[in-house]
Amino acid sequence: MTSDAAAKVIADFTAFSATTRRRAPLYSSISARIADAPLLLNLMLSAPETARVPVNLFAAVHDLLLADRSDRLARFYPNLTRHPDGGDPMPEFLAFCSARTPQLRASLATRFPQTNEIGRSALFLAGFDHLAAGPKAHLDLGASAGLNLMVDKLAYRSGDGRVLGDSDVILDCSVRGEPSGLAERLPDIRARLGLDIAPVDPSDAAGLRWLKACVWPDQADRFHRLEAAIALLERNPVEVRRGDIVDDLGEAVAAVADRGHPVVTTSWVLCYLESERQLSWLAELERIAAGLDLSWVWAEAPAQVGVLPVAPQLAASHTTILGVSTWRDGVRFDRTLGRCHQHGYWLHRL
Ligand SMILES: C[S@@+](CC[C@H](N)C(=O)[O-])C[C@H]1O[C@@H](n2cnc3c(N)ncnc32)[C@H](O)[C@@H]1O
Repeated sequence: MTSDAAAKVIADFTAFSATTRRRAPLYSSISARIADAPLLLNLMLSAPETARVPVNLFAAVHDLLLADRSDRLARFYPNLTRHPDGGDPMPEFLAFCSARTPQLRASLATRFPQTNEIGRSALFLAGFDHLAAGPKAHLDLGASAGLNLMVDKLAYRSGDGRVLGDSDVILDCSVRGEPSGLAERLPDIRARLGLDIAPVDPSDAAGLRWLKACVWPDQADRFHRLEAAIALLERNPVEVRRGDIVDDLGEAVAAVADRGHPVVTTSWVLCYLESERQLSWLAELERIAAGLDLSWVWAEAPAQVGVLPVAPQLAASHTTILGVSTWRDGVRFDRTLGRCHQHGYWLHRL
């Protein structure tokens, strides 16, 4: 292993420490000391080059800690204790890693961070609310574990104190602009299907734990609502097919279209496609919509997704934009609904 490789790991952790100081103080403080922690450095250097990113190590450790929450390290994790220890986490972090080096090596070699952000259901709800009433067939593309296929099974608090829905999973999303609520009603969803190139099997406890492990412990609220949503998903399993959102789109739409108006949703997935592929995706959606009325609710960042139908002043936005496109008799209507938090904590209507 070259010293160049070690220098790169140290530089990456140092940069990560600087950018996460405010949002993730626990990870930031550990990252800042990577150069003095040969154990962590060697662990990272034993991983394939593409896996040597700080979030991968932190997710691997978090995952093992979630499997054994009684470990002393847990007292530093704000998501695992009500009163986190404000002292130095490094000795316990190193002790934890030292006792589990083989498992950490295996994790670093085989797994990459994966997300499924339940907060985006609040954004999808606001999008569904712009569609005509009636039965819907929900197709979520890049669905991960399928959590956002439960839009109608959650409750939503939109800042005016009003709660829509009856569920123990309550999503807070403050809304600026009119209407001040997220939606008038929950959608009437008769069919639901997810499509993902690397789906998380909802019956695989280890896969679901990995989703939780990828949330930063300092984002305790996000972690807890994800846990609650996963518990709800375990009681209400949904189908997420393995497939590509371009090549397998037609088949997926056809699988649900006879049970309601098809609503295709995308949140933070189109950015994973090269620009050419984004164009192919849109062309495929247009092709299907030429023969079948459907809608597309999207929550994506225009700076990374050139095919979004946004006004020129939003085209370079790194902020997530929420919009709805509908096709009726082959004619397309686009509407941009608002700027939003990427995890759905707020929606500022445009
Ligand atoms: C950042 S995650 C977002 C997951 C989910 N949409 C959400 O908002 O929580 C992106 C997801 O897109 C999936 N993905 C990436 N490229 C894909 C493709 N070409 N076809 C299908 N899924 C894809 C990934 O596997 C991953 O689950």
